[in-house]
Amino acid sequence: MPHPVEPLQIRPLPPDLRKSTSLGAEVILPESMTLFDPKSLSDAEKQVLHKAFFDNGVLVIRNQIGIEPQVLYDIADLLDPDHLPYHSGGQKQVTDLKNILSQNNCSRIPRAPQVTVIGSGHVKDYEGIEELNLKHLAQSSFHEHPLSEQEVASGLTRPYRWHMDAALYENLPGIVTSLHAIEVPKVPAQKLQFPDGQTMDVAAGATLFFSGARNFEVLSPEEQEFALNTTVHYAPRAYEMIRNCKASSDGLTIENVGRETPISDLPAFSPEKVHSFPMVWKNPVNGEPHLQIAGCCVYSLTTIDPSTGNQTVITDLAEVRRICHGLQKKVYKPENVYAHAWQKGDLVMFHNRGVMHSISGQLAQYEERRLLWQCNMASSTPPEGYRK
Ligand SMILES: [Fe+2]
Repeated sequence: MPHPVEPLQIRPLPPDLRKSTSLGAEVILPESMTLFDPKSLSDAEKQVLHKAFFDNGVLVIRNQIGIEPQVLYDIADLLDPDHLPYHSGGQKQVTDLKNILSQNNCSRIPRAPQVTVIGSGHVKDYEGIEELNLKHLAQSSFHEHPLSEQEVASGLTRPYRWHMDAALYENLPGIVTSLHAIEVPKVPAQKLQFPDGQTMDVAAGATLFFSGARNFEVLSPEEQEFALNTTVHYAPRAYEMIRNCKASSDGLTIENVGRETPISDLPAFSPEKVHSFPMVWKNPVNGEPHLQIAGCCVYSLTTIDPSTGNQTVITDLAEVRRICHGLQKKVYKPENVYAHAWQKGDLVMFHNRGVMHSISGQLAQYEERRLLWQCNMASSTPPEGYRK
């Protein structure tokens, strides 16, 4: 194909959106390309996109209505060439009601089974799917102390659950998650609430992001040293274990009320398939340290005192959560949160191993529908721990 006149460009988001987040850039496609086709980029453009992805954490391409769902696979091919041929959530969508991940009623696209349809509202005869009642998860269903009806009516919202797209069992978390907005409801903006009483204007249903690199940066030297020497062990069948649990108001951890499903009542599992990861992951392109903890799913910690080499295993769940929350809550401030305001046609790619993300907003009370595609291919390689 002829070489494009204007090549692909990367434009960091404006300072009022980027703030101190270290996140966000817009990808301007080559002049010859209106719909994103990663396979048609020149080698130099592929390199530019690859570097921008790992440096900016979240990339946005506007006006992409008309792309095929398979483009989301092509994105994974480009950014994680060794990915496995299925979604990190498994070959099939989780529909087991005992699993907290089944609550949004989403479904895979039959002609592209690695792509999930998520959103809010009723869908009929869409992409070979007969009927869907999509549910946008809201803080009221998953917080121990949810916002009151009056607070919600006044426009307040919170993160639902900060997470990486990670099964934390068997399938390794994908490197890239792609999201594509097919339909976006026009509803009034909402206000994201922070624990210190601050608020931040966000579009209703904005996807929230903070950078694990920024999180590491805001830690004290002692906290950084601890994090670098600690391994996080996740709960076996973590999402089944927390299915009756509720989150803290900031969505970063679980309140210790004792509603965890006992191990004996969990679906069968092989202990060697339950994931343990270093607390700090190395960015594969720029080498930066990222604090990456799925705070709602932690179970125990192993930490090594670097001065003595002594190893301590922390198994008290409340203490494990307190430690992880203490590290992550330091980043949850308006200046560190990028809230993506969805526009119809947006294609967002985010570094799932370098950022944390969360749903926000209340959409159920609005009739207008929201429809998004989501894809996170399981990776074949575990995240690399950061070592000084
Ligand atoms: Fe997610």
